[in-house]
Amino acid sequence: IAERYCITREDALTREGYRHAGHIMLYGDSSAKLFGKIPIKHIVLMQMRFDGLLGFPGGLVNPSKETLEAGLSRELHEEVGVAVPVGVDNHVSSCLSPSSPRLITHFYIKKMTESELKEIERAAVTAATDHGLEVLGMVRVPLYFLKNGGGLPYFLSHSFISNSRAQLLSALQHCRLLSQGELEKAVRQAEQMRR
Ligand code: GTP
Ligand code: MN
Ligand code: MN
Ligand code: MN
Ligand code: MN
Ligand code: MN
Repeated sequence: IAERYCITREDALTREGYRHAGHIMLYGDSSAKLFGKIPIKHIVLMQMRFDGLLGFPGGLVNPSKETLEAGLSRELHEEVGVAVPVGVDNHVSSCLSPSSPRLITHFYIKKMTESELKEIERAAVTAATDHGLEVLGMVRVPLYFLKNGGGLPYFLSHSFISNSRAQLLSALQHCRLLSQGELEKAVRQAEQMRR
């Protein structure tokens, strides 16, 4: 995330004439192995949006009517079918959106257990009112590297809403889900694919 666009949560809430959105990266550890041999290591959830772009679950919140965290929890109920509790301790950044003028995007991270994440994946299909409409499906982010850019590099070569790609990269770094070297390699390989 380009630091110059980021402000504190408190500063964000004092600004007038801005809309606010809250999105969250739900993630956790996993011992599952792809093809029985490649450890997936972590589950990181994103979603395919109605517009064909990848992004995180969440949405517009109205700080004059609800706290940012209650608004985000409400959006999660609509989009993943479970009202995941979100607190100020889950907040990681508040940034001026590079793509929408007068929009502040608040980003959160929450660690969950593998069974909680699997329950969210089920509820996103069976209980979420937005399923098939504003949300086309939850997707897991591949964090491994296969031959010829398979895995994270190919995932990063897709198109993302607003600054959600930067949010993903900074969250992977923040939570130490990948090393700095692995992240740089993934970004470099993804860059080569886009040419
Ligand atoms: P409606 O219910 O139709 O209003 O949608 P929503 O409330 O779910 O809003 P949405 O999730 O589309 O988010 C609102 C705005 O925030 C979008 O128009 C994007 O500009 C931006 N946005 C959406 N997803 C993300 C994300 O994952 N990260 C960031 N930084 N911005 C996002
Ligand atoms: Mn198979
Ligand atoms: Mn929504
Ligand atoms: Mn949304
Ligand atoms: Mn909404
Ligand atoms: Mn909606």
